[in-house]
Amino acid sequence: GHDSLILGIESSCDETACAVLDGAGRIRAEFVASQIADHAPFGGVVPEIAARTHLALLPDMIHRALAAAGTTPSGLVAIAATAGPGLIGGLIVGANTARGMALAADVPFIAINHLEAHALTARLPDTGGNPPNFPYLLLLVSGGHTALIAVEGVGRYRRLGTTLDDAAGEAFDKVAKLLGLPYPGGPALERLAAEGQGGRFDLPRPMLGRPGCDFSFSGLKTAVAQLVARQPEGGLPRDFAADLAFAFQSAVVAALADRLRHALAMLPGATAVVVAGGVAANKAVRAALADIAAGAGLPLAAPPLRLCTDNAVMVAWAAIERLRAGDAADPLGVRCRPRWPL
Ligand code: KG4
Ligand code: ZN
Repeated sequence: GHDSLILGIESSCDETACAVLDGAGRIRAEFVASQIADHAPFGGVVPEIAARTHLALLPDMIHRALAAAGTTPSGLVAIAATAGPGLIGGLIVGANTARGMALAADVPFIAINHLEAHALTARLPDTGGNPPNFPYLLLLVSGGHTALIAVEGVGRYRRLGTTLDDAAGEAFDKVAKLLGLPYPGGPALERLAAEGQGGRFDLPRPMLGRPGCDFSFSGLKTAVAQLVARQPEGGLPRDFAADLAFAFQSAVVAALADRLRHALAMLPGATAVVVAGGVAANKAVRAALADIAAGAGLPLAAPPLRLCTDNAVMVAWAAIERLRAGDAADPLGVRCRPRWPL
């Protein structure tokens, strides 16, 4: 019912988050703390710092979320936490917090796959769009993952393609660093690309025209590195960096578009295209995906940005979907898994 409250906890990377949803999927409380500032001095996520920061932030954040939802641990019908894939230290902090609460309050514990949570987010009510029905095609493009997944039902996922090397967001971050931009580089690179023009650089178009739906971004990054290395020392000219950012972004967009087209051909019954992950914030990426979805006569469902990037609403929602589908709770002894393919 509407008052069957569920707590979700997310701590697989550098976002500390918790949320309380009711049984209908309405959001009763939602908190996210980004650790970007803690990791920025190191130019990337430091796993040990991430785990310690989750540990420092979670207890108070959970306390505030339960208070905002007007409940206590024993008033919950389930406690869900991301158990993988991700950085093992952070996963253990989040999952053990959930286990401890579940044990103390005698509430079922549910271990959630982070990718499943991203995959089901678009079905959350109240996200503004029409929740897609199964089967739909998910393009997950984040700093850690790049994959095309056929979502055929709760617990029924078929991976159509994945990256053979870097994730799309990782490529954005690495190229941004080469261009002298701060971490995380994706948003900064998009802003720089807006000043740039095409026609100056001819970067490789990774995987374009190849069969299947796999991705590859490391060759593109290497091509950028070589162009930068040939420049004289002492900082890149602004127009050079902007044109290169534009060329890089265009190449990524072309690759994502090509792979999406192939995936749609492999899932003829798809009812929608769904995007998730931080790279979905990129306007050029979104526009290209919308074009291809429209060309296939399908809606493009992009959850609001705060639900596209890592959050705990998606963790609680995945638990609701699993319980509705008849799944049992997980034993408290279930292991966290740094690698956990769908
Ligand atoms: O989903 P997310 O918040 O975290 C995980 O990786 O799980 O995604 C973060 C990634 C980073 O690599 C970031 O640079 C990239 O998404 N990103 C972008 C943009 N905003 C975030 N990449 C390109 N353009 C953007 N506007
Ligand atoms: Zn994620």
